[in-house]
Amino acid sequence: MKPSYKKWGRSIIVAASLPFVSFLSTASFAGEAMEIGEIGVESNIAGLERVTQTLVAPPFLPVHEQVVKGAPKIVAMTMKIVEKEMEIAEDVFVQAMTFEGSNPAPMIVVHEGDYVELTLQNPSTNTMVHNIDLHASTGAMGGGMLTTVSPGQEAVLRFHATKSGVFVYHCAPGGTMIPFHVVSGMNGAIMVLPRDGLRDEAGNPVSYDKAYYIGEQDWYVPQDEDGEFKRYASPSEAMGDTFEVMKTLLPTHLTFNGKVGAITGENAMTARVGESVLFIHSQANRDSRVHLIGGHGDLVWRGGSFGDKPATNLQSWSVVGGEAAAALYTFQQPGLYAYVNHNLIEAILLGAAAHVSVEGSWNNDLMEQVVKPGPIK
Ligand code: CU
Repeated sequence: MKPSYKKWGRSIIVAASLPFVSFLSTASFAGEAMEIGEIGVESNIAGLERVTQTLVAPPFLPVHEQVVKGAPKIVAMTMKIVEKEMEIAEDVFVQAMTFEGSNPAPMIVVHEGDYVELTLQNPSTNTMVHNIDLHASTGAMGGGMLTTVSPGQEAVLRFHATKSGVFVYHCAPGGTMIPFHVVSGMNGAIMVLPRDGLRDEAGNPVSYDKAYYIGEQDWYVPQDEDGEFKRYASPSEAMGDTFEVMKTLLPTHLTFNGKVGAITGENAMTARVGESVLFIHSQANRDSRVHLIGGHGDLVWRGGSFGDKPATNLQSWSVVGGEAAAALYTFQQPGLYAYVNHNLIEAILLGAAAHVSVEGSWNNDLMEQVVKPGPIK
């Protein structure tokens, strides 16, 4: 049966009416609360301090400590879902679906053992059903089945961050709406730091002077007969055409932080020679390969787990679709660095590139221009 995407109105109807997506289209995804069975273990939060985390737009991270002492905390935050039109490249617009209005969504930062208590709000001005599936959590489709909210609703999820690392989260409202919402921008990441901080490959403590979060997004923007990118009035109006492009698996744009060129020029990441920078890179849907042109990944947590020893001195590192990875680099030379997806077609023709502007003095021992370009002698 060939589905007619254009007939689909609201996501609730889609999830319930298409047999081929039924394996991920339970009633729970259609807005009904999941029935939790017998409880074998009660949560153990009595006496824990409760703090509120203020989320900030990427590439920045919320204020946080790298090493913590004492008991775990309950870290609470509110995340508002925002459906809005976004310009993802010059004169190219999409009906984006976002957490907190940004792509990627804000990074959450907690420590292993903390409890994350997330209030997910879907304002009545929105048109779609949404939820949140956090790869750092355990059970109920990553929390997706407990957080499905229609416009005008909110839900609160608390989960125990038992595994350290960097993890993707994304909307997963059921059936074909899952990829549609993810490639419409609805994804972000959470960093769960070990309580005693990061360690190098030999187990020695390491720290970062600053950290940046780069969220890579693949977009599938429909074009008209003349090749012009189409613009729509709502996510449901864009849906049918967008599915046709999605099924080609060929994104029309790839962005680092929501728009081609978003992290360049005045908005470039910055560092000084001698500073150690942690780059956290997520891709919720599609594989990527990160490369810092002119630099390295001194320590790279491929796959995102801080429970594993980091790889050392990498030139490029993969980020599998559905994961985040972290890389620590201490800058040794000043200048402008390009931080790219090293499929260079994707970087340069589709947009998956950013800049790091580094100040400091040049090290001639590391590199020297012996003869400037000139006529061959
Ligand atoms: Cu959604």
